[in-house]
Amino acid sequence: MTPSNRLSSGRILVRGRVLSFKRRPNGAGDAAAYSYLEDGLVVIDAGRVTDVVEAGEIGRVGGEGVVLHDFSGKLILPGFIDTHIHFPQTQVIASYGEQLLEWLTKYTFPAESRYGDPDFAAAQAGFFIDELLRNGTTTAVCYGSAHKGSAEALLAESQRRGTAMFVGKTAMDRNAPPEVLDSAQSAHDDTAALIDAWHGHGRQKVVITPRFAITSTPEQLEALGSLARAHPECLVQTHLSENAEEVATVRRLFPDRADYLDVYDHYGLVGPRSLMGHSIHLTPREIVRMSESGAVAVFCPTSNLFIGSGLFDYKGLEGGRHPVRLALATDIGGGTSYSMLATAAEAYKVTQLRGQKLSALEAFHLMTRGNAEALGEPDLGRIAPGAHADLVVLDSAATPAMAHRLAASNGDLEEELFVLMTLGGDRNIQEVFVGGRPQGVRRAAP
Ligand code: GUN
Ligand code: ZN
Repeated sequence: MTPSNRLSSGRILVRGRVLSFKRRPNGAGDAAAYSYLEDGLVVIDAGRVTDVVEAGEIGRVGGEGVVLHDFSGKLILPGFIDTHIHFPQTQVIASYGEQLLEWLTKYTFPAESRYGDPDFAAAQAGFFIDELLRNGTTTAVCYGSAHKGSAEALLAESQRRGTAMFVGKTAMDRNAPPEVLDSAQSAHDDTAALIDAWHGHGRQKVVITPRFAITSTPEQLEALGSLARAHPECLVQTHLSENAEEVATVRRLFPDRADYLDVYDHYGLVGPRSLMGHSIHLTPREIVRMSESGAVAVFCPTSNLFIGSGLFDYKGLEGGRHPVRLALATDIGGGTSYSMLATAAEAYKVTQLRGQKLSALEAFHLMTRGNAEALGEPDLGRIAPGAHADLVVLDSAATPAMAHRLAASNGDLEEELFVLMTLGGDRNIQEVFVGGRPQGVRRAAP
């Protein structure tokens, strides 16, 4: 066997406590929802998992030229997936004192205007992917700025790293400063060109991305709806019912539509490939329509709390008479942490404020397989033969407070996961593998 720091194009073994979900857990204690090896080996060949075995089988799966990465005692999970994040908002995060519409005008649009400069966008793309990986996130669904070059910069950087990224050029042709506006035609043509050049290129995917109904004219929504019909392989992402003033503005702008969701629906933008960011203030009709269309409501708890938008009805949407598909996301820069662990902690608090409970099993399922299913990507979010070898290695006792808390937990896995999501963050990320390649995230940390 070869030491872990030697490069090899052959088989790779990663040893540790291997946890992967088989299905959505039905609350706490649902041990049948996951597979867990206390001392396991993830066997990787050509960027994919080929087997997951007990460490005792190392003689069978190891051998000459095989590289072993030994993380015995550490948790190995599928790399986290962030289903809604804004690439041009890394310098908007932590902006003071405004709710959504003023926050967009005062902080966000000026920051996004800088991404018209391709050199600036390229430099920011490096930081962005570094930061995701440092937090254990190996795949993200990203909004670019209105500039096609911003999406190109991020896709190119992701291609260089071998990560699987979903990226959209944000379409917006009204109600914002000219530096961040496109047109109905250019949004259509730029997105179509991105799809031609990038969708399915390596691990990159292009997302059709109308920002939200307030910044798109009916003509632009029409153009993007026709693009979505022409490209059913592409995800659609947008924002929906995040903030009360936003909802009232959409009603004024589209008086002929039944409600906010109906605006997008009218233009063919609502279906099982649609990711509807926030989805907080939904009417009963919208919930029924979300359910029957298979659209995904994307829960962004740190953002919803920080911008003061409202409390997402997690259990009401998931388990109501009309169940809605759910995903979890950071929504940087409205969101306040790149960490999906910290995001899960805030999700838990939002459910508490609504008298609901989000178990650690449900949260970790969401961050991995649940989010992969929301994207329709069966080869992401799980550690099993055939899946991409995107892994995160977690040190649950990385801080004195966490080690101290875990010393009282009797080694219970669910309790450890709950401590991880409640107290955890980037410091718990010991290593990340992308397509089977270790990223050295601890070394890259400042
Ligand atoms: N609605 C429209 N654009 C945005 C955005 O950039 N962030 C958030 N949180 N909501 C939005
Ligand atoms: Zn957003």
